[in-house]
Amino acid sequence: MNGVNEIRSAFLDFFKKNGHEIAPSSPLVPRNDPTLMFTNAGMVQFKNLFTGVEKRPYTRAASAQKCVRAGGKHNDLDNVGYTARHHTFFEMLGNFSFGDYFKAQAIEFAWTLITRVFDLPKDRLLVTVYHDDDEAYDLWRKIAGFPDSKIIRIASSDNFWSMGDSGPCGPCSEIFYDQGDKLFGGPPGSIDEDGDRYLEFWNLVFMQFEQVAPDERLPLPRPSIDTGMGLERIAALLQGVSSNYDIDLMRSLILAVAAATGVDPDGPHMASHRVIADHLRASAFLVADGVLPSNEGRGYVLRRIMRRAMRHAQLLGAQEPLMWRLVPALSREMGQAYPELLRAKALIVETLRLEETRFRITLKKGLEILDEARASLKPGDELDGKIAFKLYDTYGFPLDLTQDALRATSNTVNTEVYSQEMERQRAEARKAWAGSGEAATEAIWFALKEKIGATDFLGYDTERAEGIVAALLKDGKEVSSLRAGEAGSVILNQTPFYGESGGQVGDTGIALASGARFRIANTQKKAGDLFVHEGVVEEGVLERGLAVELFVDHERRAAVRANHSATHILHEALRLVLGDHVAQKGSLVAPDRLRFDFAHPKPISAEELARIEDIANRAILDNAPVLTRLMGVEEAIGAGARALFGEKYGDEVRVVSMGYAHLDEAGLDASERAFSTELCGGTHVTRTGDIGLVTILSEGAVAAGVRRIEAKTAAEARRHLNTQARRLHEISALLKTPEDESVVRLASLIDDRRKLDRELAEARKKLAMGGGEGTAPPIEDIDGIKFFRRAVSGVEMKDLKSLADEAKQTVGSGIVAIAGVGPDGKAGVVVGVTADLTARFDAVQLARAAAAKLGGKGGGGRRDMAQAGGPEGGSVDSALAAIGAALREITRAA
Ligand code: ALA
Repeated sequence: MNGVNEIRSAFLDFFKKNGHEIAPSSPLVPRNDPTLMFTNAGMVQFKNLFTGVEKRPYTRAASAQKCVRAGGKHNDLDNVGYTARHHTFFEMLGNFSFGDYFKAQAIEFAWTLITRVFDLPKDRLLVTVYHDDDEAYDLWRKIAGFPDSKIIRIASSDNFWSMGDSGPCGPCSEIFYDQGDKLFGGPPGSIDEDGDRYLEFWNLVFMQFEQVAPDERLPLPRPSIDTGMGLERIAALLQGVSSNYDIDLMRSLILAVAAATGVDPDGPHMASHRVIADHLRASAFLVADGVLPSNEGRGYVLRRIMRRAMRHAQLLGAQEPLMWRLVPALSREMGQAYPELLRAKALIVETLRLEETRFRITLKKGLEILDEARASLKPGDELDGKIAFKLYDTYGFPLDLTQDALRATSNTVNTEVYSQEMERQRAEARKAWAGSGEAATEAIWFALKEKIGATDFLGYDTERAEGIVAALLKDGKEVSSLRAGEAGSVILNQTPFYGESGGQVGDTGIALASGARFRIANTQKKAGDLFVHEGVVEEGVLERGLAVELFVDHERRAAVRANHSATHILHEALRLVLGDHVAQKGSLVAPDRLRFDFAHPKPISAEELARIEDIANRAILDNAPVLTRLMGVEEAIGAGARALFGEKYGDEVRVVSMGYAHLDEAGLDASERAFSTELCGGTHVTRTGDIGLVTILSEGAVAAGVRRIEAKTAAEARRHLNTQARRLHEISALLKTPEDESVVRLASLIDDRRKLDRELAEARKKLAMGGGEGTAPPIEDIDGIKFFRRAVSGVEMKDLKSLADEAKQTVGSGIVAIAGVGPDGKAGVVVGVTADLTARFDAVQLARAAAAKLGGKGGGGRRDMAQAGGPEGGSVDSALAAIGAALREITRAA
């Protein structure tokens, strides 16, 4: 029993047998602690259990926790590769008591495990205790039988452990192993304690306090235990090697580096091998936990780690990107204990390959510049900060990479000048955006971003996390607090809330802090990556610096996710059915529906729509995984990812692919291709099946050459379709016809109705024109001209004209005038002049005479047929009389 995997299991088994719950490792990005950059100890996931805020069904636990110490309080990055013990990534084995057992039992467990299970020789062991901790001192004497010389009191902070600037803490007792005088070093507390001889491998923390402010410590509700044993260290002891890098696991990784580069792992390049092996673990595990390289926050720490390793790959003479080729070796060693490595393997490989490919473009040139500058430095000299800044700015060299490169010749960087250069560049950027137009109205966001930094978005992986209030705004101005009843905006250092962008609406939800509740009604993204939570304080007071727990409205987010993924699928289905010209013009992804605008010159037929819907639903039923990768824009588009034309993308983009391409649509190599691949920063389902169903609601035009479809998915789609079904049911009940015959029945009813309408109109006209049985047509003779006049009712205005035509036929030669009152009480009149008389009479002129009586103006038409109207329905008769009078006047004047 001494392989790393066996030691891990033996540790967990021991505590399991002793009543401990085995807790899986929590992610490297702490969900429950906004103050920490990365999980840096086993106790992080239990922080709230120690303080009593959270309760779980167990009071004892044990874990093997993945940890990263790079950036933040515990930062080992600079030493990695040059010492036997430092890592950026390591595993911590720990046992924990939450107000259950305390010092005595903790020491007892530790002693039993190391001497009985691990069989470490007792005479090699010694411990430290906090200088005034007599209780621990006595317990060690009693349990281990140690003489005074083996229990060393330490007064410094080395024996008082805290996880960060705040959180649970307490005095601790560290267990050491004396590796013998073949190694240099003295016992803890001596001047030579930093030597390698005495190896600290297990830290027992007697958690008793919570650090709430820099100088304020409160007692914990109940004393607790937190222990941490570096797995790599105990493995080194049990395997009899003096460096963590010589244990089986690290050795396999180093041998993989050696195999890939052909460089002796134990020769002069030993440090580079170690750096690469260590940084490979940190990079892969961080990517697996959702961190991707970027220029801010956690992403930048990851980038620094990756680039530092990549420089060492270059030192080993690697001609091609190296890191990604080591991933299989890492998965083999650690994939069983950490299945997330296997799940994220493709993402890890691609992220490493992309980062190294891109970095190599500038790495060589940057190193040349650095070598040139170094040539004029004597050992101990400082490199000009301006050069270090140029290397950073132009060649992508993080500062620590430059410092690492200078280490071999004992040179350092003038960091003061470096910082000045950085500040100068920021000031220039500030000037640029403070200019005019849109940028000026957004100036407040840029200023805030500069002050507090970009928000770290955790929402791809979680809907719940803690954040620290970094800024508060009311009416567009910064304030230090928001009270109950006040509306305003909150910006946090990190958030799981998605800020509106790329068509996807912002998240809603709630933020809770002790006594305060903030209802988040919307989340906006400003100045690129500042997430602004808008809402109202419902209770208590929100203040800057407060830690809040954030809860995204899960159901709404799940619905948005389904709609976003469905948008990608519909986009592809549209393209397959309508052609390659279909390009996205806009989209809206809301919880209840999605809208997609795209270029297409004509309406989509019902048959095409049905095919689009079929293809989309087939992709959903395939239940294929949805994968997110980070790629260079050019590379992504080259690989066929669809991007929004005219959209500004950063150098690196998230690429979301989903579904399986089907042979009939994509041609060959279907297995290689996803159904849809797009550049997208939105949140998506994990498998296409999570969308459930998509149904297209409508299709229409929004602008010339741009069509819009609207659709619903999942529960909303089902509700919509149910409503439709219910309606059909009601219709068929009304028609007294089976549902599947309803359409035919309805069509024939509509036909019948049309026929009846026509017949009814005819009958009305007849009735109106006939004026009833036996009445002679109302024709007057005016100076030899026949004048047909009639006031009608019950006839639609639009039918007056056809009545006038009929009247013309009746008179053969003459003038006709038909007037009627519409249902709205307004009157209309139509005047007709038979063709033989149009030279003498103008229908328009006659209609005008009528219009005057009806209170209307003018009259429109031609000489043979004209119309006029007016509001005074009661004056129809005088209008007709006025036409007669006008006619008489014309004939008399002739
Ligand atoms: N939390 C303690 C440590 O990290 C055990 O050393």
